[in-house]
Amino acid sequence: MKGFSVEARTAEQLFYYHHPILKRHPLLLDKVIENFRGFQGVRFFKAPGRVNMIGEHTDYNMGPVLPCALDREIVFAVRLNDRNRIHIANVEPGFEPVACYLSQNIDPYPRGHWGNYLKAGFKGVLDFRSLTEKSNGLIGFDALVSGNIPRAAGLSSSSALVVATVISFLSLNRIEMPKMQVAELCAEAEHFVGTAGGGMDQAVSLLAQKDALVKIDFNPLRTEIVPVPAGIAILIFDSLVKAEKSGFARAQYNRRVVECKLGMALFKKFLQKKAIASDGIDFIGQIQPELLRLDKNTIDRLVTTFLNSLAPDYSLADLAPQLNESDTNLADTFLKIGSNDYLTEPTDGFKIRGRFRHVYTECQRVEASQKCLLSGDVAGFGQLMSASQQSMAQDYEISTPEIDQLTRAIMAAGGYGARLTGAGFGGAVVAIVAQEQVPSLREQVYQDHYREKNIPAQDAPIWVCQPSDGAGEIVLA
Ligand code: GLA
Repeated sequence: MKGFSVEARTAEQLFYYHHPILKRHPLLLDKVIENFRGFQGVRFFKAPGRVNMIGEHTDYNMGPVLPCALDREIVFAVRLNDRNRIHIANVEPGFEPVACYLSQNIDPYPRGHWGNYLKAGFKGVLDFRSLTEKSNGLIGFDALVSGNIPRAAGLSSSSALVVATVISFLSLNRIEMPKMQVAELCAEAEHFVGTAGGGMDQAVSLLAQKDALVKIDFNPLRTEIVPVPAGIAILIFDSLVKAEKSGFARAQYNRRVVECKLGMALFKKFLQKKAIASDGIDFIGQIQPELLRLDKNTIDRLVTTFLNSLAPDYSLADLAPQLNESDTNLADTFLKIGSNDYLTEPTDGFKIRGRFRHVYTECQRVEASQKCLLSGDVAGFGQLMSASQQSMAQDYEISTPEIDQLTRAIMAAGGYGARLTGAGFGGAVVAIVAQEQVPSLREQVYQDHYREKNIPAQDAPIWVCQPSDGAGEIVLA
């Protein structure tokens, strides 16, 4: 509606523009009035992004994570249609609208297209439906989408798109499903985009609670709420280096998934030689006393001996004899990312030692962090965050010079702990800071890091995160 002015809004419309969540998405509301001709029959769903406090690249290794949901989200304004089709338009310019018929096979767009995250969600629900019903009988909808989660910043804007698609689709079709199951459906569905991701982002987007972190364990999925201790603030700093999930970062991410799987296969061979049973233990996150039936010191010693026995890098040809497999079998088993997608063997070799060591120690840091937070040991938690950053930089090699510099600046300004959050190769840094120190720390980090990039102080990409509730329909009462 061109020329639509604030004064011309009706009392009903003003209600939406003042709503605690919807007021963050005024363009969406304008477009609802313009495209849907008002709010009649329109429902709103939100899915928040997340910031992971600790536990990076542990989820696909069945190790724990400790994130919270952001107070930034994707919002869908949806209205049922009677056309057996879904049509979704983004209110931001530059995003082609996405349409698909519910009876169709769903093929992806070219890699990097935002619509693939929506299609991942549709396909996830359609595949689920085909398991339980003969004809899907689903009805379609029209949606407008808005988001305020910075993109390619390691804050899960793309998983939030998948979650928002799935919960809208399920809810409009009155399909009831526990949130845990929705989280699993979304995590599986997102593999459609070609990244072999774990289940953290979707689980926290759905299961988060206000003012708290969520400790998430996998296989089976379970959550524990960890309140944020009084007096500390969670700060997010964007490094402004974009970590596009579709490009370089995707290939690097998938490579690490493969390196961990290869590492675990070698570790199982190592245990076998020592006549230690490891049946049912297939992931680094499962190397635990209860599962291996060994005490923690013995396991730590075994892991150290194993790591010391590894070469700095391996080709598939090096690994084949060690794993008693042919090169081709090994490629088929380990390099497969999607139904028709294989990782290209890295020319510098698989770096198994560092990857394994990061994941093994990171899982322990998550457990220790939970204890620190529950006992109010904020300084202890900060140290674990900084140790995690070091491990990500040196062993997992997912940090960047800007992120290293930012974390140093935050620590020099008095932060308790600071680390890269998310998949890495760019994106954001998360830090914990005493609440009363926030203004001075913000100023110092601005001076040390952002000023030289010619960013005006008021535009410095630093903000305090208020952990929020998980995804769901936005209550309009
Ligand atoms: C991405 C993935 C998650 C997780 C993180 C790294 O966000 O989607 O599953 O692996 O990277 O911790």
